[in-house]
Amino acid sequence: MLAGAGTLRGLIGPREVPRLWERHLVNCAVLAELLPEDASVCDVGSGAGLPGIVLAIVRPDARVTLVEPLLRRTSFLEEVVDDLGLSNCEVSRGRAEALRGVERYDALTSRAVAPLSKLLRWSMPLVAPGGALVAMKGSRAGSEITDAAETLARLGCGTPGVLELGAGEPARLDPPTTVVRVVRSGTDVRG
Ligand SMILES: C[S@@+](CC[C@H](N)C(=O)[O-])C[C@H]1O[C@@H](n2cnc3c(N)ncnc32)[C@H](O)[C@@H]1O
Repeated sequence: MLAGAGTLRGLIGPREVPRLWERHLVNCAVLAELLPEDASVCDVGSGAGLPGIVLAIVRPDARVTLVEPLLRRTSFLEEVVDDLGLSNCEVSRGRAEALRGVERYDALTSRAVAPLSKLLRWSMPLVAPGGALVAMKGSRAGSEITDAAETLARLGCGTPGVLELGAGEPARLDPPTTVVRVVRSGTDVRG
């Protein structure tokens, strides 16, 4: 579906098609190991469903909400959820900020949506106490954490962890998926 409708409708660049499996699908699937059992998961800025749809497929125990403001993208996401029969996945059209005070999730995922400081402002109020933001960040992870120092302190977040996932069997990703993980403490996050 990504190689066909996703490309035709401009959600995936045609040059990505030959590397959809490793660079997009497996790259996202390795996040599954960070999700607690039966987790509620919010994928912010899902686009064509990365990583949210992939996580809903590989973790049927999770309940995944795909948050995406653009109609063209939510229409595609709804078709994919329907075609694949993903009963554990729903599409929510809108911006992450609009869910503040409405919903909270055990894990909040995102890939290629915003710099970490902005993502933290949008996302941490949506993370349940004890839950975590899991942001796919690539080689800029360290510098984004440095840039976000003030926001991390203001929101009362703990020290972020940088994790490299998928280097070993069975994924054998090269480069591995780099993730910034920020756990929300039991206390309230200031917005
Ligand atoms: C570059 S795309 C990345 C899509 C997908 N995560 C991926 O990695 O292929 C960024 C997406 O974030 C969405 N987005 C931007 N601001 C957002 C916000 N405040 N809340 C939710 N989604 C947002 C955009 O509409 C877009 O679909």
